[in-house]
Amino acid sequence: MADTIRIEDIAQHEGEEVTLQGWVYNHTDTGKLVFLWIRDGTGFAQCVIFHKDVTPELFEAAQGLTYESSVVITGVVRQDDRAPGIPGGYELGVSDLEVLQIAEEYPIQPKEHGVEFLMDNRHLWIRSQRQWAVLRVRATIIEAIRDWLDDSGFVNMDTPILTPAACEGTTTLFETDYFGDLAYLAQSGQLYNEADIYAFGRVYCFGPTFRAEKSKTRRHLTEFWMVEPEAAFCDMDQLMEIEEQFVSYIVQTCLDERAEELELLERDTSRLEKVAPPFPRISYDEALDIIAEIREETEDPELKELLQIEWGDDFGSPHETELTERFEKPVFVYGYPTAAKAFYMEPWPDRPEVSKSVDLLAPEGYGEITGGSERISDLELLLERLAEWNLPREAFEWYVDLRRYGSVPHSGFGLGLERTVTWICGIDHLRETIPFPRMLTRVYP
Ligand code: 4AD
Ligand code: MG
Repeated sequence: MADTIRIEDIAQHEGEEVTLQGWVYNHTDTGKLVFLWIRDGTGFAQCVIFHKDVTPELFEAAQGLTYESSVVITGVVRQDDRAPGIPGGYELGVSDLEVLQIAEEYPIQPKEHGVEFLMDNRHLWIRSQRQWAVLRVRATIIEAIRDWLDDSGFVNMDTPILTPAACEGTTTLFETDYFGDLAYLAQSGQLYNEADIYAFGRVYCFGPTFRAEKSKTRRHLTEFWMVEPEAAFCDMDQLMEIEEQFVSYIVQTCLDERAEELELLERDTSRLEKVAPPFPRISYDEALDIIAEIREETEDPELKELLQIEWGDDFGSPHETELTERFEKPVFVYGYPTAAKAFYMEPWPDRPEVSKSVDLLAPEGYGEITGGSERISDLELLLERLAEWNLPREAFEWYVDLRRYGSVPHSGFGLGLERTVTWICGIDHLRETIPFPRMLTRVYP
């Protein structure tokens, strides 16, 4: 009996008879010859069935296959440079075929479908080649994230999803009924990370986070995954050094390990190849100057309008997009106005209206992929901020404690997984970067 192999390993089996288990992705029947594209989750292989090589029953069975029918298929692996596939260059000369199920007429056909239709059929759409490629890149990014952090002294500490208080502002909280009390779905694990660093030095959490954002942009999900590293004895400059190493490693790992997927996605990888430390660093004030320059230079009245901004405002996507067009690599923007960011940010020395915050903006218009800062370490200042932000003291008492027992300068950031996948894959909407996206107008399937 032939060995069952995975398509991704097909090259190692040239000349051998092997068995593939998978689904019919495409089907061409010339009368004398049936070409099948079989996918098995690890790749796509062309399988060729010659009328003269097999029994009439087998040939008829092959002719009757529909899209997404499930099969076990056996044959000899042949090298052929013209054979399409992932990996390409090999095909199967079929000698046996077992049909497990003939699929009903498959709703997704090789033609253009509207996005809403595809999203309604997301449970099937994930089988398509492009979606498969994107989600494989996602899995590799997750692996790279963990590898780099684990190897750099960050200890994985899981933080709770049900929480009594807000981290990133009260307007985007999902409320849940917690046995008669109010609890919220976590917007971020950061506050708990800050407790964890006092036990472990450097930590990270990595999990789903929730924002009841009423925004319908292509960069927002209501449920997204965020990895949040946090480090004791770390200031904003040291934080940027960590981030540029980390992000560069993630990108380079994808280039090494997911070249075929990126090619399938038609990603221009030359831009990604440039992603290596150091990344440029500009202050918020400098960023405003650049935006003012762009506004002056542009002859597009709509863009002029979109780029309208005053000192104190946070950037919107148009600002981020235009700014990053000026840089080849991801760019750090640091020193945002205190009022535009979260309550926990350390103020700039002698300039309290500015915070020691830093966002990393991806090139090619992909916008903010990380947000982070140095955290307030002084007890009195934190108490003042909680009051100014009208945050309930009781819910934050444990967090305040951290400033009572061995407080140290510390910093951290959060990297949005789906934003990172979007950028690395070069696609334009976050909804394709997570298996089952949750958005303002979608919780199905
Ligand atoms: O900038 P944010 O809100 O920062 C925090 O939550 C901090 N507490 C993180 C920390 O310092 N530990 O979010 C961090 C990142 C953003 O840069 C973005 O990549 C992503 O999370 N993000 C979203 N991704 C998808 N949909 C949304 N609605 C997102 N909101 C933020
Ligand atoms: Mg942010």
